[in-house]
Amino acid sequence: MTGLVVAMDGPSGSGKSSASRGVARALGLRYLDTGAMYRAITWWMLRKGVDLSDQAAIASRADEPVLVSGTDPESPAIQVDGVDVAGPIRSQEVTAAVSLVAAVPEVRARLVALQREIIGSGDIVVEGRDIGTVVAPDATLKVYLTASAEARATRRTAELTGTSVEAQQAAMARRDTLDSTRKTDPLSMAVGAVELDTTALNLDEVIAEVLRLIKERA
Ligand code: C5P
Repeated sequence: MTGLVVAMDGPSGSGKSSASRGVARALGLRYLDTGAMYRAITWWMLRKGVDLSDQAAIASRADEPVLVSGTDPESPAIQVDGVDVAGPIRSQEVTAAVSLVAAVPEVRARLVALQREIIGSGDIVVEGRDIGTVVAPDATLKVYLTASAEARATRRTAELTGTSVEAQQAAMARRDTLDSTRKTDPLSMAVGAVELDTTALNLDEVIAEVLRLIKERA
């Protein structure tokens, strides 16, 4: 790896997406949302009627969908079999199912390979759950974003309609447990990562702190 690679990991609602896009914009870097890739493959599995309680069924079809991920921080694009799914992958149905699909090793192997291909020679900010631990352990900077469960649920609720902070907190806790306890590449802080608690920070402060950390390493 020659260029700059910034790995941004953390649980849902920790502020990864907004901060990652902001950092990419500020430095003119590319941006990759790996969560969108897991969501896109989940959207495809749901559409094909794959039984998501059957890991073998998911595994046997993991290589089928054609995924294309954009890297423009201004408008992150994602296509499955030529269909733009940037909107549909944010549905509650996909959100509720994605951790089941993401736990399947064959799915992870395929997406990690695709992610490494896109990262290529670098100059990119990559957000996810296993970027610093698995996808790009040699990243220039590894950040692990956290925030209190209440702050994370409050942020997510503000982005959605028809849900309460309590319902969000319960749904996020369920997803975080699945993501942190799965056998393959669970969410965890990478060796050498800098932990950044965003509970009391606004977006500009988070971006400024990440930019400072990058400068320190450049
Ligand atoms: O970041 P986002 O909430 O869109 O991620 C959706 C889901 O995709 C996560 O809950 C997790 O199950 C999975 N994921 C993953 N590894 C990544 C990124 C996301 O397992 N690198």
